[in-house]
Amino acid sequence: MRFAKLALAGLAALAVSAVAVPVLAQEHGAPAGETGHAAGAGGHELMAPAHGWHHEEFFGTFDQNQLQRGFKVFTEVCSSCHGMKLLSFRNLGEQGGPFYEARYPNPNDNPAVKEIAAKYVNQIPSIDPDSGDPVKMPAKTSDRILGPYASDIAARVVNGGALPPDLSVIAKARHGGAAYVYSLLNGYHTPPAGLTVAAGQHYNAYFGGDTAASWSGDPRHKPPGGFLAMASPLATANVTFDDGTPTNLPQMAEDVATFLAWASDPKAVARKQMGAAVIPFLILLSILVFLSYKAIWRNVEH
Ligand code: HEC
Repeated sequence: MRFAKLALAGLAALAVSAVAVPVLAQEHGAPAGETGHAAGAGGHELMAPAHGWHHEEFFGTFDQNQLQRGFKVFTEVCSSCHGMKLLSFRNLGEQGGPFYEARYPNPNDNPAVKEIAAKYVNQIPSIDPDSGDPVKMPAKTSDRILGPYASDIAARVVNGGALPPDLSVIAKARHGGAAYVYSLLNGYHTPPAGLTVAAGQHYNAYFGGDTAASWSGDPRHKPPGGFLAMASPLATANVTFDDGTPTNLPQMAEDVATFLAWASDPKAVARKQMGAAVIPFLILLSILVFLSYKAIWRNVEH
């Protein structure tokens, strides 16, 4: 009898943890959760803002103002080379997104989203209904946020042979997530004396690779990081934030890194909240199951 009770209690506990723990751990245990400790691609600790990454906390959410600022940095700076083709304009107005407003449950009706889409020239070739000529039309809210180049070849030609990757899921694709993007944008340090930087390349202390072949100094002290074709995109950027947040490189880097973290998994916060709501339900269910077990076996010796 004691064994049966114990087994039942154990089963109930398992049921609770089986559902709740993966839901939460998935968020918390993601590589991005290792901010500040993760070894960067360049082989040293990634940078993090002083207050950390709120969205990576257990029940952390995104600050909508910050997502809007990050999107502004993306449109005004990054989108001249990078696309985010897994994201549609309407996703920006969905719950949890930068431009979500409760009074527009359908993001296609959201005026902010419509305005943003209309400002983008859609790269998908289209036909002028009157003349039949091929034209580029303004984007609709259902369109994807495509990059500026007609093809990968065209993109490489103007970027010194390198392809600017699509940024839709870059925060998931790189170890460290937001912290990696933040570190990369902050990591354009002046190359130390003894390090030769090839034409068209830029030294970054957080980019993957190896500086050994370009380092004339002591091999034991070769500089961390590597070289990439992207020059510091924020060095000369001057994005004015609508909420009055002062513009400086670390701020722009933090905001765009946070926006890219949101974009790589727009439903993450909703999933966390669902997990939190499920736990009390499961606890209640476990109690009910236990009580019904007691009731059913009340008169039976076991
Ligand atoms: C002038 C064009 C240009 C602009 C503007 C630009 N990038 Fe890039 N970016 C590139 C190119 C080219 C690469 C590929 C570099 C390489 O692999 O050598 C790249 C690579 C990247 C990578 C991938 C690094 C890796 O780990 O492989 C990230 C992340 C990135 N850019 C983020 C950004 C962000 C964020 C912005 C805006 C703040 C931005 N870029 C603006 C051209 C640009």
